[in-house]
Amino acid sequence: MTEPTMTPFRNRRLKLAEQMRARGGGVAVVATAPEVPRNRDTTYPFRADSYFWYLSGFPEPEAVVVVDARGAEPRSILFCRDKNEEREIWDGFRFGPIAAAERFGFDEAKSIGTLDEELPKLLADAPAVYHPLAASPEADTAMQRWLATVRGQARAGVSAPSAAWDVRALLDEMRLVKDAHEIDIMRRAARISAQAHVRAMKATAPGRREYEIEAELLHEFRRQGSPFPAYGSIVAAGANACVLHYRENDATMRDGELLLIDAGCELDGYASDITRTWPVGGRFSGPQRELYDIVLASQAAAIAATKPGARFTDPHDAAVRVLAQGMVDCGLVQGTVDGAIESGAYRRFYMHRTGHWLGMDVHDCGDYREPGEAPPAGGDKPWRVLRPGMVLTVEPGIYVRAADDVPEAYRDIGIRIEDDALVVEGGCEILTVDVPKAAADIEALMRAG
Ligand code: GLY
Ligand code: MN
Ligand code: MN
Repeated sequence: MTEPTMTPFRNRRLKLAEQMRARGGGVAVVATAPEVPRNRDTTYPFRADSYFWYLSGFPEPEAVVVVDARGAEPRSILFCRDKNEEREIWDGFRFGPIAAAERFGFDEAKSIGTLDEELPKLLADAPAVYHPLAASPEADTAMQRWLATVRGQARAGVSAPSAAWDVRALLDEMRLVKDAHEIDIMRRAARISAQAHVRAMKATAPGRREYEIEAELLHEFRRQGSPFPAYGSIVAAGANACVLHYRENDATMRDGELLLIDAGCELDGYASDITRTWPVGGRFSGPQRELYDIVLASQAAAIAATKPGARFTDPHDAAVRVLAQGMVDCGLVQGTVDGAIESGAYRRFYMHRTGHWLGMDVHDCGDYREPGEAPPAGGDKPWRVLRPGMVLTVEPGIYVRAADDVPEAYRDIGIRIEDDALVVEGGCEILTVDVPKAAADIEALMRAG
């Protein structure tokens, strides 16, 4: 395997520095995530902090990126663990500062053990510090310690930063529009997750447990190099599909039920997020098919509305109109479509939004409102305008919990169809096309499986 290029990470550090300079310069400090103890002598699988990863691509814990945007040329410095023969025997390879600087394209790298000594030097006379503001007590305490040291040098003529910016605000805007390197990873992550859903469809049969199907998903993720799912997989049969964040995944699946799976892998730090719903026995019943086709049509309407120049909420509004129409047509909701939308009556069966930003985090960063636009008098800020490079999910659904006042045929049916959409010129590219969603295609695949 060829070594991945570190150019995109370096470019992001340069772009961050440019924005800091536009605000008068300063020094950015971004640490990776801590290792989290699970129980005695074991930790949860390590996952880097997303912002740190975005700027470095450096995989080890106990590391900090510093971007110094003061001089003629911005400099980036990595603090990381030293080489340690003993620890490497027990826990595995460490780059150490010398190899890390070269491999990850930093101007310099230093031992993490020197952080308390070096950070005050780097922050001395900096006009501003850029860090994740009030993100964790540990990070705030460390910053307080470094700044206290700088302030202690006041009589020597050293000045401490007089402003602090939340570096995440700058990075969120950058992360919202994916670069070519990110898009490539997200396409691959989506493809793996699509294949996992196909595998799960083929493995579904009455009498099997939800967790057996979850195992099929995990098998495919891992087989293709994903370290872990991007979020806890939801494998929900029958009425369980009406629990939006169902986690148990331990029920026995029965013929006549639908199975809703919401699962996606993480790959190289990026999430994918797919939901499909299919019949446990391989054939939709009449009422299931009726609701399924409403959700599918609502998703098609939402996808058609996902294009440059549209507002973030346009796909949602398009989906809601089709869903509300379907609910009125099949008697789940009484009255008119406009009435159901205005009163919010449809929300009894569709209580979430139609999408969210997707990226390193499954619910990715980025303001959903347009930062540059003033709100109209007395109103909210307008929704974000979609631009090429943004990635969002499109995930309408219908969930009918059993109740005396809903038609019996629809009770306990939960359906969601979720794809990942990259906004491109003129529309959007669905990254998750490799898993079928038309009812007839699902039935054909299950017959063949
Ligand atoms: N899987 C989480 C979501 O769909 O938002
Ligand atoms: Mn999902
Ligand atoms: Mn989602």
